[in-house]
Amino acid sequence: MSKLKNKVAVITGGNSGIGYGIAEAFRNEGAVGVITGRNQATLDRAVSELGAGFMAVAGDVTDLEALERTFKMTYEKFGKIDALVVNAGGVVDGSPMSGIAEVTESNYDGYMDLNLKSSYFTVQKALPYLNDGASIILIASSAAHRAAPGMSIYAAAKAAVISLAAGLSLDLLSRSIRVNALSPGSIDTPVFGKLVPEEHLAQVKQLWTDIIPVGRQGLPSEIGKTAVFLASDDSSFIVGTEVLVDGGMTNISLMK
Ligand SMILES: NC(=O)c1ccc[n+]([C@@H]2O[C@H](COP(=O)([O-])OP(=O)(O)OC[C@H]3O[C@@H](n4cnc5c(N)ncnc54)[C@H](OP(=O)(O)O)[C@@H]3O)[C@@H](O)[C@H]2O)c1
Repeated sequence: MSKLKNKVAVITGGNSGIGYGIAEAFRNEGAVGVITGRNQATLDRAVSELGAGFMAVAGDVTDLEALERTFKMTYEKFGKIDALVVNAGGVVDGSPMSGIAEVTESNYDGYMDLNLKSSYFTVQKALPYLNDGASIILIASSAAHRAAPGMSIYAAAKAAVISLAAGLSLDLLSRSIRVNALSPGSIDTPVFGKLVPEEHLAQVKQLWTDIIPVGRQGLPSEIGKTAVFLASDDSSFIVGTEVLVDGGMTNISLMK
């Protein structure tokens, strides 16, 4: 209940799925701060469930001015930031994940902008408002390590995000700011509803479950607990690396 007592956190995409699971886990450990997203209704609902220590700031993470505004508003309400979770990402509205034969330039740019460019500039725009010694957690993906149909651009963007953990840690060494990537495997969140129609949802989740050695998808709360570890002093010697939270999917084959 006290690993993050009075720490100020910003969680982008904190109104849904993994981001909300992280916000809940942070709140449970005593943190306060800001969640972001574009959808005001889900932001309001999430904040009312998180309680008085949390504030919602609406904004698009691909809009650099909106990012600056978010961090300024956070600073004015809570002071400097101790933990930044760069989580917003995943599926681009109206732009399917596709194989190379179908991908257009705007589809490519959309996935790179949301999953790579926005991660980089979220960190850059936060810098003036971060405490020295802060922890930055970049939400990447096990997709960076194991190809899946239609996911090559998304996976390449997430692989680059894993690389950023090391590069940005080096850039920020003089301020003792640690940057690490947290790569979820297949986690049960609303993202699947953005990828396939309702009638195929159960089947697609089962396809993922079939390749996960522990026999189930992960929960947002399990990513939340790992994010608490990476945000807290318990991980003080973990710098510039990746933590893979995937139920064994990447490294264990179920071949009999
Ligand atoms: N679920 C998985 O299996 C899985 C696995 C590996 C990695 N991940 C990664 O985990 C992160 C969260 O995914 P999730 O599964 O929790 O998905 P989700 O439920 O679809 O949540 C995505 C979040 O990102 C926000 N977002 C999307 N586009 C945005 C934009 N342009 N500007 C601001 N916010 C934006 C959404 O809020 P608004 O819609 O309100 O903007 C929402 O809060 C993503 O980076 C994803 O790539 C997920």
